[in-house]
Amino acid sequence: MSESPDVSALNTSRRYNEWVGGKDHTGVERESTKTILTVLPNMLAAAKEGRAVVMRAVRDLVAECGIRQILDIGAGQPMKPNVHEVAQRIDPACRVVYVDNDPLVGVHHRGTVMSRREGRAEFQAGDLLNADEILAGDQVKEVFDLGRPVAVLLASVLHLIEDDELAYAAVRRLRESLPPGSYLMIVHGTFDTLPEETRRAVRALIATGKHGAYRARSRAEIERFVDGLELLEPGIVSSVEWRPDPAKPPQTSVADAMCYVVVAKLP
Ligand SMILES: C[S@@+](CC[C@H](N)C(=O)[O-])C[C@H]1O[C@@H](n2cnc3c(N)ncnc32)[C@H](O)[C@@H]1O
Repeated sequence: MSESPDVSALNTSRRYNEWVGGKDHTGVERESTKTILTVLPNMLAAAKEGRAVVMRAVRDLVAECGIRQILDIGAGQPMKPNVHEVAQRIDPACRVVYVDNDPLVGVHHRGTVMSRREGRAEFQAGDLLNADEILAGDQVKEVFDLGRPVAVLLASVLHLIEDDELAYAAVRRLRESLPPGSYLMIVHGTFDTLPEETRRAVRALIATGKHGAYRARSRAEIERFVDGLELLEPGIVSSVEWRPDPAKPPQTSVADAMCYVVVAKLP
């Protein structure tokens, strides 16, 4: 992991920050966004729905499932509200470790993540492709009791791993290593809902190599990540269909949300 990030190159976490309404992005990311919007005009609304469902899942994991420890892998730039704020609003004793492999994300988190007297929120550098290192990391060991369940958030990060073998191996390793009764939450991009013409146009854009890695997966491919696990209701559905908040109706259709969500419980 580089200690001095190249701030002139496209940074996908900064671009995502632009999509979800943040302020931490540069002209490089805004140019990429402009091009993507020519093919996917609802991309920003889709990203915001992808973020909103993470907050709803965190709420229910804490309030309904009794989770008090959350590992957010591929956490992205700090956002308002962030995972620990939603969790600690329900129980101030909740503990959260944010993990990301982007050094810039680490810089921003270390400047903003707050520890509270009752709970904790820390950042740890790490790569989803090396789950063992994440679980053995200093912050994880200090903040969590790994004898108790942990909810792992894999929100909008697995589709950044293009190699299927690596993506499935990473999730398998987490499934093998997490304490019994832990949860996995996945938010994953799909092109299932797009017309063929749009799919072709997006794939052509990705193939230019100018907009970062992206591997949309089908419903069946996403199901494989959680095969054999108990799924929280309503199962694998679009971000806009996963326990929508009646007070905040979805800003986009299932087709334009381009996303599947699932929360699964480990035995
Ligand atoms: C699209 S953002 C998602 C942010 C947040 N999880 C959300 O859903 O709002 C994806 C983040 O995953 C990070 N990331 C990409 N590949 C990763 C990997 N192999 N391990 C850890 N983080 C990764 C990126 O740096 C980026 O910050």
